[in-house]
Amino acid sequence: MIKAANLKRSFIENFSQEPLIVRSPGRINLIGEHTDYNEGLVLPAAINKNVYLAIAKNGTDKVRLYAIDLSDSFETTLDAIKKTDKLWPDYILGVIEQLQLNNYAITEGIDIAFTGDIPQGAGLSSSAALECATAFALSTVFNLNLAQLDIALLSQAAENQFVGVNCGLMDQFASVFGKEQHLIKLDCADYSYEYIPFNTTDIKILLLDTQVKHSLASSAYNERREQCEKGVELIAKHEPSVTSLRHASEEMLLKYVKPIDEIVYKRCSYVVSEISRLQLACEDLKKDDFTAFGKRMFETHEGLEKQYEVSCKELDLLVQLVKNNPYVLGARMMGGGFGGCTVNLVKADRAEQVAEEVAAAYKEQTGINIPYYIAEINSGTTVVHLT
Ligand code: GLA
Repeated sequence: MIKAANLKRSFIENFSQEPLIVRSPGRINLIGEHTDYNEGLVLPAAINKNVYLAIAKNGTDKVRLYAIDLSDSFETTLDAIKKTDKLWPDYILGVIEQLQLNNYAITEGIDIAFTGDIPQGAGLSSSAALECATAFALSTVFNLNLAQLDIALLSQAAENQFVGVNCGLMDQFASVFGKEQHLIKLDCADYSYEYIPFNTTDIKILLLDTQVKHSLASSAYNERREQCEKGVELIAKHEPSVTSLRHASEEMLLKYVKPIDEIVYKRCSYVVSEISRLQLACEDLKKDDFTAFGKRMFETHEGLEKQYEVSCKELDLLVQLVKNNPYVLGARMMGGGFGGCTVNLVKADRAEQVAEEVAAAYKEQTGINIPYYIAEINSGTTVVHLT
């Protein structure tokens, strides 16, 4: 609330009028990584780290943006929305462009200022949160009546087409649909979803931040997606009903993909096993069996490291450092990869201790001081009412 109150003050100082304020959260994902763009399942949740965005119409054709935490601003007009050389405005402009392309009436210019506490480059989807905050805010001020799913889909389209990262729907969906004390089991084949209670007091979700983000992250991400598509093509030549890896099996991969392309086989084999691992992990959750769930997280990490090859030595080190720790039930890299956070399920009363010990060992081996966060599960994109 302090962030939102300061944001309001700063908006009024800059733009001389009262804004609407919107909050949109970052996300974690417990299991189901690199499955969303393969019509698989994911198990994310929104967390207590947010983007706060203030917005008001300005009666001109100008789009004026202000990134409070960067002390940076950007200005354009509604008929000249195009990619910038700064990146941060692109998340907002990309959403405006999507609304224009879909014939939503953005009838006058707007002023936007934003701030937040989602660490950048940590794999907690600060960019998706900014996109969803923008879509929600525009829908509200222009009475566009966008449904929650439309907000997520438009935001994803902005990331795909404007920013240029061919991401799936997980991050945007989690930001919009988050629910306190619940995970979201999202089926990316048809966007059906189910809330799964996660209200244990015995376990905490600890995020350890490598503090690195290797530059190949987005090019490698797009390349993985293409490799998955290639695998599907190879199978579909023989089994036309297979239109995504969701419908593929290890047998099909061995028969139709491995003899032709060993790398594509490895990538697809990881995805197929991760989709079924998530289903089993949900069974574990039903039984409150966090020990079994945690083991599957370690398996996911191994797949991401060795088969999908989207990990990096810093992420591997953080997982290695907790592997034999009796208080850590499971750990793995999270999100796209090549840096960011690991997600750890830790015995609640030991979470801080584990974090301190791992941070000290990581510092010794890499020279890097790392922050950690204990994630609380939060609700999704909403208007903030300040009293
Ligand atoms: C990034 C993308 C998501 C998803 C994950 C990997 O966070 O934005 O769509 O693909 O990577 O699971």
